[in-house]
Amino acid sequence: MNTVTVNGVRIAYHRRGRGRPLLLVHGFPLDHSVWEELAALLEDDFDLILPDLRGFGASSDPREGDRIEQYAGDLLAILNHLRVERALVAGHSMGGYVALALARLVPERLLGLGLIATQHLADAPERAAGRLALAESVLRDGLAAVAGDMSGRLTANADQVPALRELILRQRPAGVAGALRAMAGRPDSTELLRRFRLPVVIVTGLADALIPPERSREMAALLPQARLHELEGVGHMPMMEAPRRVAEALRELLPD
Ligand code: MLT
Repeated sequence: MNTVTVNGVRIAYHRRGRGRPLLLVHGFPLDHSVWEELAALLEDDFDLILPDLRGFGASSDPREGDRIEQYAGDLLAILNHLRVERALVAGHSMGGYVALALARLVPERLLGLGLIATQHLADAPERAAGRLALAESVLRDGLAAVAGDMSGRLTANADQVPALRELILRQRPAGVAGALRAMAGRPDSTELLRRFRLPVVIVTGLADALIPPERSREMAALLPQARLHELEGVGHMPMMEAPRRVAEALRELLPD
């Protein structure tokens, strides 16, 4: 793993493959390893950059009060460090929130967006309050409850549940709590998408138990240029449940 330090926070990332730069941004409460199978399918076409978001995997913990913009700033720091002028950015779920924050921060550094099992809307107040309460309980009691509750709802493929549970349990309470607070405070991205002109690919699993496919259809309606892929029998983890189909979808972001 390579690292870059941003205002005292160490951000870890992997780089593999060759071609167009493509940042793959993992979701909550996971790390870059969720991209493993997909990355193997994409590495002949893309220069893949696979960060661990702050607080996850090999990256160090977030700081008190970090917002989704700080998570996006970490991605920008990686691009600057690697002297990558412009990149495609594909985010899964929370990684999509971070990708949208990056598009807001430095639109001129993007080549296009992949939005995988994610959404443009901010949290409703009761959802945000629930996240803040969960952050407190994670800091007090650890990750067992989150791992137990989320692992079964992440994927429609029961065989993947134990590994996802282990992956969540490998994360750290401070990172998970920080991400919950950052998600709770994230802005709505409707206007950003309405004005967004670069290529966009949207992927949703029709069996997603966490973010309904309807959100992806709403995003596609805001983006006339977007290609929407609705995957039958797939839950919240399309890149693990249907890696070939996600790879095909992301290849649509390459110029003809
Ligand atoms: C994720 O998978 O990153 C989260 O479930 C997203 C969310 O809770 O909004």
